Amino acid sequence: MAHIPRKIKFCKIDELKESAPITKWVDEWKDEISAFLVEGEILVLSSICPHFGGEFERVAGTRELRCKWHGWKFNLDSGECLTFKIPGGLNHYPFSEIDGYLELTLPDEFVA
Ligand code: FES
Repeated sequence: MAHIPRKIKFCKIDELKESAPITKWVDEWKDEISAFLVEGEILVLSSICPHFGGEFERVAGTRELRCKWHGWKFNLDSGECLTFKIPGGLNHYPFSEIDGYLELTLPDEFVA
């Protein structure tokens, strides 16, 4: 079985902008992850829509994401789907700020 790293250096903190998230495919964790700067707060979530894998955009002036494919909306803080009651939602990744970098941690519950 391949070793799965529990921590990943994701981006430089000063690369984060309110205007656009930093989104990357993290192959080791098989997830596309976005880091948002929202009103000065950093939020890190899975960015794969649980409907059919569509791409998200932030709804201007809100703490919501909207899928570009079929319009489902999600709460940025909780990851909850606001359009339909579905189990789960968008996973949040815990992180630390280390030496100017955002370092993500893979939560225990994400490890199979
Ligand atoms: S793929 Fe996101 S709402 Fe359909």
